[in-house]
Amino acid sequence: MALERTLSIIKPDAVAKNVIGEIYTRFEKAGLKIVASKMKHLSRKEAEGFYAVHRERPFFNALVEFMISGPVVIQALEGDNAVLKHRDLMGATDPKKAEKGTIRADFADSIDANAVHGSDSLENAAVEIAYFFAATELCPR
Ligand code: TYD
Repeated sequence: MALERTLSIIKPDAVAKNVIGEIYTRFEKAGLKIVASKMKHLSRKEAEGFYAVHRERPFFNALVEFMISGPVVIQALEGDNAVLKHRDLMGATDPKKAEKGTIRADFADSIDANAVHGSDSLENAAVEIAYFFAATELCPR
């Protein structure tokens, strides 16, 4: 098992539903440690930069509008196989297709308001963690 870190975002819809704690509990019960955490209302520039890889996709503008529609909670998670473990906890992008018991199946309303973000590879995780956290803000233990 490889000790990994991944970047997780609780999106504005889930923050508005007041389920931050329920989602954190799922991370902790799965053996993922929260090694950095902050609540933030993203600027348009921050959201556009974060999702730059999707700039040419038809849903890009709506995605950015959604991500700046309210505060988000951003965390770095650490644990064995953290990237895949976190993706499994999240469920499929479209909550209608997400497995029962996943975060998106339980808390997301639609593919565009889908409760959580999670890095999709170890390489992207490093880039995304560095996008939101200085190295000194990570607290491994
Ligand atoms: P993507 O990276 O494909 O999914 P995931 O978040 O599961 O890694 O897409 C990023 C986000 O873009 C997704 O969480 C929600 C939004 N999105 C849409 O609004 N419509 C779509 O058709 C897709 C594919 C994504």
